[in-house]
Amino acid sequence: MLDLSDIFSIYNLVEAFWLVIPAYGANGMVPLICSFIKKKHRLDFGRNFFDGRPLLGTGKTIEGLLIGSIVGALIAVFMQFAFPYLPWSLSDRPLAIAPVGALTGFLLGLGSMVGDAVGSFFKRRLNLERGRPAPLLDQLDFLFGALAFAMLAVAMKLEWVILLAVITPLIHWFACIIGYLLKIKKEPW
Ligand code: CTP
Ligand code: MG
Repeated sequence: MLDLSDIFSIYNLVEAFWLVIPAYGANGMVPLICSFIKKKHRLDFGRNFFDGRPLLGTGKTIEGLLIGSIVGALIAVFMQFAFPYLPWSLSDRPLAIAPVGALTGFLLGLGSMVGDAVGSFFKRRLNLERGRPAPLLDQLDFLFGALAFAMLAVAMKLEWVILLAVITPLIHWFACIIGYLLKIKKEPW
């Protein structure tokens, strides 16, 4: 049975956050790194959908997909090395910390980018131009993509998914505002 006090417990927060770090990292680093790449290749190869509008649009590139996957894998490898040195024993009950490594990180990064592209597909169908905000879709598309892909390597807990679906939009909005202030992002969303 799902218990709200379990979902919003510090234990669940630590477990869920640990798993999602490579996805957050990939999603955050891609716009930054891509902004330095001059020549990019569109993920939809410039094609339109049946409605005559771009399949995904100019904001989704092959470079972004590759960078997101690599960044996810690199962060997870770093986490794997850091794991033994972190103060897990501070917890008064055993934590179900997902084992992360290159494969899980790669899946989280790639899944983020695929989820993000699926989000853009729906934005284009709704006639939203590239970069226009789609509240909740913009914040959750990458998360669900990342978690769906990570399920190939990790035993996912529903408690993590629910908690992350609640906290990710809040963290995402906060990070976007910072990215906008630092001029990494063009829009504050
Ligand atoms: N990006 C990329 N390739 C991807 C994902 C992101 O090159 N697969 C880069 C693009 O430069 C993009 C930026 O990261 O502009 C921010 O991503 P996002 O906010 O998801 O894209 P938007 O430009 O807002 O486009 P959309 O309206 O389709 O979400
Ligand atoms: Mg956007």
